Amino acid sequence: QWIYLNGDFVAKEDAKISVYDHGFLYGDGIFEGIRIYDGNIFRLKEHLDRLYDSAKSIQLDIPLTYEEMQEAVVETVRRNELRNGYIRLVVSRGPGDLGLDPRRCPKAFVIIIVEQLAIYPEEAYRNGLVSISVSPRRNIPDALNPKIKSLNYLNNILVKLQANLAGVGEAIMLNAQGYVAEGSSDNIFIVKKGVVYTPPCWVGALEGITRGAIIELCGKLGYPLREEPFTLHDVYTADEVFFTGTAAEVIAVREVDGRTIGAGKAGPITTHLLEEFRKIVT
Ligand code: PDD
Repeated sequence: QWIYLNGDFVAKEDAKISVYDHGFLYGDGIFEGIRIYDGNIFRLKEHLDRLYDSAKSIQLDIPLTYEEMQEAVVETVRRNELRNGYIRLVVSRGPGDLGLDPRRCPKAFVIIIVEQLAIYPEEAYRNGLVSISVSPRRNIPDALNPKIKSLNYLNNILVKLQANLAGVGEAIMLNAQGYVAEGSSDNIFIVKKGVVYTPPCWVGALEGITRGAIIELCGKLGYPLREEPFTLHDVYTADEVFFTGTAAEVIAVREVDGRTIGAGKAGPITTHLLEEFRKIVT
């Protein structure tokens, strides 16, 4: 396995970063998770657009042009000869000193890892996940903007810890006002009376690439789609609930906080969207 490490390709065992890297010391950096389906990199342009926007927002100077970055990703995939897998692209502030001042980090550090992906079993897509709501609240734009896909995932990790404790695969995060925001690493959708709802990003959700693809598909397939804030009450009483994400794709939820959702398995619109999503990825 070859890792792209700041311009070089190195073996996995030799892929190391400095203990002074501010990505490590402070979570100062950004990342992307991208899928490879049958040799095609899914929506690379959108992922790179989001990466460069995240960089701009935190004043991080990516040392590669957009074209060079695109080439680096494609070349890393090629070298690893992987037809299906997952790409993790990380840009950290780079090595500096122990102070948090980014001016002490002369050059951002770029890492690209390509790997097999551990995904939910196919059964989970038919039967749905059990989920819970958790206590950590999602950052909203007055703090760290959720549109920035930053290396600061501690909040999401706290969500994951509660999910683990409850023995569930993904959990639901609210914002400080109690509106549903997203999962620990997935966006959330609900369906009620044939209408598909997802929270607008300002409620506290990453502008997911998969989310975007599902919004597009709803338009194509004729499902009315509303970006509207909603609460746990709306989740509990929805006909269908599903999460979307690069790793998870479109995964149904059959139970939330002990309430059975719809018929207690993947609903018809979720199933249809998953089918159509899998058609557009290759
Ligand atoms: N997840 N929300 C959060 C907090 C995320 O970390 C992610 C991505 C998503 C879904 O975004 P997208 O559809 O662009 O992947 C939402 C990880 C990195 C993943 O699924 O690979």
